[in-house]
Amino acid sequence: MADEITFVQISDTHLLADDGEVMSVRPVVQLARVLARIAALPTPPRFVLHTGDLIHDSGVAGYAHLRRALAPLGLPLVATLGNHDDRAAFRQGFLKELDSDDRRYYGVHAFDGLRIIALDSLVPGAIGGEVGREQLAWLADTLAEPAPRGTIVALHHPVALAGFSYLADGLLRDASDLAAVLAPHPIIGVLAGHCHAPSATSFAGTTVVTAPAVACQFAPDTLDAVISPASGFNLCALRDGALLVTSVMV
Ligand SMILES: [Fe+2]
Repeated sequence: MADEITFVQISDTHLLADDGEVMSVRPVVQLARVLARIAALPTPPRFVLHTGDLIHDSGVAGYAHLRRALAPLGLPLVATLGNHDDRAAFRQGFLKELDSDDRRYYGVHAFDGLRIIALDSLVPGAIGGEVGREQLAWLADTLAEPAPRGTIVALHHPVALAGFSYLADGLLRDASDLAAVLAPHPIIGVLAGHCHAPSATSFAGTTVVTAPAVACQFAPDTLDAVISPASGFNLCALRDGALLVTSVMV
């Protein structure tokens, strides 16, 4: 069993099928910059976690494009879905499911004893998210069994943010219900995306950390989202039971 597990969290790639422009950037170019940086890391990550907004409303073709773009890394990928995602298109274009439908996409992944629980907070047509009672019940059952090296929870929507008043109605609506399920358990950390900025928030006895977006950054403390064309990702390590996160801007 590896002493230290390193992995990367990417988020909000907002990939378009035609390599065009959105939010004043070309997501395909931003993604290429981040992937080049990840490929050059001195310690190869064990896996890649994507915390949602994989595509920007670009359907099956967008997901197929993302799958091809990530393939050269040769790393396992854990994905969670965001408000710009589409479950059925993701299942068809990214997972290559033959009979794709819009069932929620959540599950458990294990890497050298570290458990990643990927939740689905997508609410079709809404900016904000919700885990929902059925998924929360599944999560409670899943957490009843401890993991050898602990548990990290991943989802797209953060629970609360400092300085993002324009996102106040666009976060996780049932955050208090999620807190009630997580609080009895030793959760190493919660990793999220959505706000296109690195942040950390105390929550349910653990910490919610968000990643800078691959596509572009949103500025906190503005009346509307000022967009910066910078790109980035989170470099993460599990060391001695602790989660260490460094946001890397490229
Ligand atoms: Fe996003």
